[in-house]
Amino acid sequence: MAMAKGLIFLGAPGSGKGTQAQVLAERLGIPHISTGDMLRQAIADGTDLGNQAKAYMDKGELVPDQLILGMIEERLGHTDAKAGWILDGFPRNVTQAIFLDELLTNIGHRTQWVINLKVPDEAIVERLLARGRADDNEATIRRRLLVYTEQTAPLIAYFQQQGKLYALDGNQPVAEISTDLQKLTSR
Ligand code: AP5
Repeated sequence: MAMAKGLIFLGAPGSGKGTQAQVLAERLGIPHISTGDMLRQAIADGTDLGNQAKAYMDKGELVPDQLILGMIEERLGHTDAKAGWILDGFPRNVTQAIFLDELLTNIGHRTQWVINLKVPDEAIVERLLARGRADDNEATIRRRLLVYTEQTAPLIAYFQQQGKLYALDGNQPVAEISTDLQKLTSR
């Protein structure tokens, strides 16, 4: 059987992770797994997880690891993830990255590509204010950017050391970024 494909999108809030993950997931025929979307669904469904996560999301803080790790483990165990997966918004700190590495070893999967989409902060703020999701007000966007710098950006070096990191210019039209990703993942 062919090796399962595994791709992680790193990149600040609003860098285009979700937009590109959706296009690529359709092309590769593997699921787009967004922890942010899963948490927003949990809030909409009124589950315990959603109720606990909401206050953190509203403030732009990371939801505690203990709420996230079981959720991702369960999701990667679904049948549709056997042939591969695209992770968008996970891992988001070193604890989550180490957890994922161990989980993938246990299920016989591995990460092939970690994509860092690079976009200047001011372009991000402009994009997110135009979108207007519940957490897209200027104070929360700035807080999300700071949390990214402090907690998620260290994963750039983490994955660079594993030889898996690819930096792409995320400040160009959506279709051009998709073409860059297509070239990278069909090598
Ligand atoms: P999450 O849902 O992951 O949000 P985020 O990281 O803030 O990312 P966004 O969805 O805002 O941006 P994106 O990079 O996906 O860009 P998108 O394609 O949408 O997380 C939300 C919250 O959930 C977190 O703050 C945290 O509380 C919690 N959370 C989630 N995962 C967690 C985890 N693992 N651990 C702990 N907590 C967690 O694009 C953004 C906008 O820009 C769109 O309007 C889009 O149309 C536009 N756009 C996209 N590409 C381009 C382009 N090339 N040019 C111009 N506009 C573009």
